[in-house]
Amino acid sequence: MSDVNIDRRAFIAKLGGAAAVAAMAPEALAEELEHEMIDMLGQDQQPPAQAPSGQQTRLPPFQEVYKGIGHVFDKRRGEELKPLPKQPTLVDFFERRFSRATHRHCLQSAHHALKTGQPELTIMSCLIHDIVLNLAKPDHGWWGAQMIEPYVDEKITWGIRYHQALRFYPDDSVGYEYPELYNRIFGKDYVPEPYIEDAYQYARKHKWYMEARLITLNDTYGFNKDMDVSLDPFIDIIGRHFKQPKEGLGYDNSPSAHMWRTMINPDRSL
Ligand SMILES: [Fe+2]
Ligand SMILES: [Fe+2]
Repeated sequence: MSDVNIDRRAFIAKLGGAAAVAAMAPEALAEELEHEMIDMLGQDQQPPAQAPSGQQTRLPPFQEVYKGIGHVFDKRRGEELKPLPKQPTLVDFFERRFSRATHRHCLQSAHHALKTGQPELTIMSCLIHDIVLNLAKPDHGWWGAQMIEPYVDEKITWGIRYHQALRFYPDDSVGYEYPELYNRIFGKDYVPEPYIEDAYQYARKHKWYMEARLITLNDTYGFNKDMDVSLDPFIDIIGRHFKQPKEGLGYDNSPSAHMWRTMINPDRSL
């Protein structure tokens, strides 16, 4: 399963210490943990920055940046934003815009779905389930669903919207356990916020429940620091399940075109 190990003390220190952690809403804390795990996937490609004097530089303290910042805005990541073509495709975003960490996490999740013979729709869902972290992190299930909605089957959108809530609830029928890491970090008595509980209660009775549940299952296979997955096996699946606009993502006047444009132009002030 997960190959990323979180150092509990370092994680708490990064969040501002034990008092700051105690003051955080449990859901916010859970979000931080997931993002920390995904972020660690990008780290082995980034040697520590060196100051001209040879002294190692440090990233700005975590508190100086709001934690919901999307990866494309976060220069601390040290990742170059490569130019995109005039009519960018989803594949262009994967290859030239999405962060190393989200690229790896999503491809590893989709790879697990592919290798275990899951439906193509599920594979496609896993491939794009967290790409919105490049834009923003809070409530990423809802934002992520909205971003891809014009281009995919409504079951994919639905699954991505509810995977955020389902992470906190086990389902023995597919072998999804409550993540042990959540127990270690948040304590055993952690209870998700009411809006998450409501979303879960709604989703678990829905006919498409499994669309979201399988995303949470495959997600747990997406934290391997030593595994690079090629996009090649997914190109045809994208072709069959993602309605690529001929004008390019960002320029097709869809209800979410502005979200893609924002990732194209993260340095625009207005
Ligand atoms: Fe997610
Ligand atoms: Fe994920």
